[in-house]
Amino acid sequence: MNIAIIGTGYVGLVTGACFAEMGVQVTCVDVDETKIEQLKKGIIPIFEPGLDDMVSRNMKANRLHFTTSLLSVLDSVEVIFNAVGTPPGEDGSADMHYVYEVARTIGQHLSHYALVVTKSTVPVGTAQTVKAIIQEELDRREIEIPFDVASNPEFLKEGDALNDFMSPDRVVVGIESEQAKKLMTQLYRPFLLNNFRVIFMDIPSAEMTKYAANAMLATRISFMNEIANLCERVGADVNMVRKGISSDSRIGTKFLYSGIGYGGSCFPKDVRALIRTAHKQGCSMNILESVDAVNEQQKSILFKKFAAIFEGTNIENKTVAIWGLAFKPNTDDMREAPSLILIRQLVEAGCHIKIFDPIAMSNAKEVLTRELTERQQQQIYFSKDIYDTVNDTDTLMLVTEWKEFRMPNWQIIKKLMKKPIVLDGRNIYDKKEVIDAGFHYEGIGV
Ligand code: UDX
Repeated sequence: MNIAIIGTGYVGLVTGACFAEMGVQVTCVDVDETKIEQLKKGIIPIFEPGLDDMVSRNMKANRLHFTTSLLSVLDSVEVIFNAVGTPPGEDGSADMHYVYEVARTIGQHLSHYALVVTKSTVPVGTAQTVKAIIQEELDRREIEIPFDVASNPEFLKEGDALNDFMSPDRVVVGIESEQAKKLMTQLYRPFLLNNFRVIFMDIPSAEMTKYAANAMLATRISFMNEIANLCERVGADVNMVRKGISSDSRIGTKFLYSGIGYGGSCFPKDVRALIRTAHKQGCSMNILESVDAVNEQQKSILFKKFAAIFEGTNIENKTVAIWGLAFKPNTDDMREAPSLILIRQLVEAGCHIKIFDPIAMSNAKEVLTRELTERQQQQIYFSKDIYDTVNDTDTLMLVTEWKEFRMPNWQIIKKLMKKPIVLDGRNIYDKKEVIDAGFHYEGIGV
């Protein structure tokens, strides 16, 4: 089977590599020439464990190809996945410009039947608009070519994307014709044979499923963050509460970890986009508006704790160590990373900060150079390793729970720090152990 994947961002590249791994002939298309040139050399623009090996393996096997020319592949493919970006527009709704542009190009050049599948996270109704755009272009050409649209939303988690693709909890496919169902069944046959669930449904339901899934997961996190904040007040331990509630199989164990708020390219954007869609439809989204608001507040939690500890003293010129910058471990992605809010609050308060992340340092540098003034940038020191980061600092803040931060030598750290204070934004440390080592310790809800 021959397919094209348009957009070599996170979703497109992972999808392309994984389908090629399954034996499909895949051509990944992107307008970014530099990116395509790099990919042709096997250079991957994102950090995702295992992806570089998978890409080069499949390129060598001649199953994975890269091009900037959609027209050069249109004639030879049966299925076209549209996986271009849908960045948030000014009002929070998804910017559909790129998705529609791809549809227009397809309509202008299609020469035989094709199934056009939307993979990008798009508002309900997009597949119908894509269909209308393609048809409009065919009408303009005064030509009749049959085609179908489908929706196949992505549920990949960064850092674990290959595993999520290869062993999915489910594959959701929205279709409206037998031909589309046949092609998607053929494409996902290896998954069906391995007994993974491929759920076929109508297109609007598939589009809605993606948003509802992300919104539900974001809701669990904001819910637990509120519970954690209350736990602190009443002397409860949110870790215990989580264990207590998650043993109820109706609740389950996942996505109940309190922390400094969710970030990344999906949850914040998708929650806001769903709220926008609801408003456009005249519906209210009270729960999701609160989920978003709680998350925004939670991103300030470490700064608030820090300010409370030093209340009455001058926090200007305090030096803070930050471990972890990426929005979560195993990725270099800084999009909507809570660390950025924290860093801004600290530099605006006049603090100096020493920051370290195992993978996201250069991305963080790029974002901070763009977003902070030169003077603020001078307040930031990019450290070499975890101990270099804590040297001569007044507080250590754990922001991203990378494995290498999990078992530090507290004795060495105590000697290096000016003040032994640990603010654990992800509850990865044993409170008693850190306190016994002579530190003032605060987690989130513990
Ligand atoms: C998410 C969805 O999980 C995935 O299905 C979808 O396709 C894209 O969005 P991703 O953004 O890669 O994936 O990361 P995820 O692991 O879901 O974490 C998102 C954010 O939530 C991170 O900032 C993480 O730190 C936070 N989080 C997650 C919590 O604060 N607590 C939790 O219990 C789980």
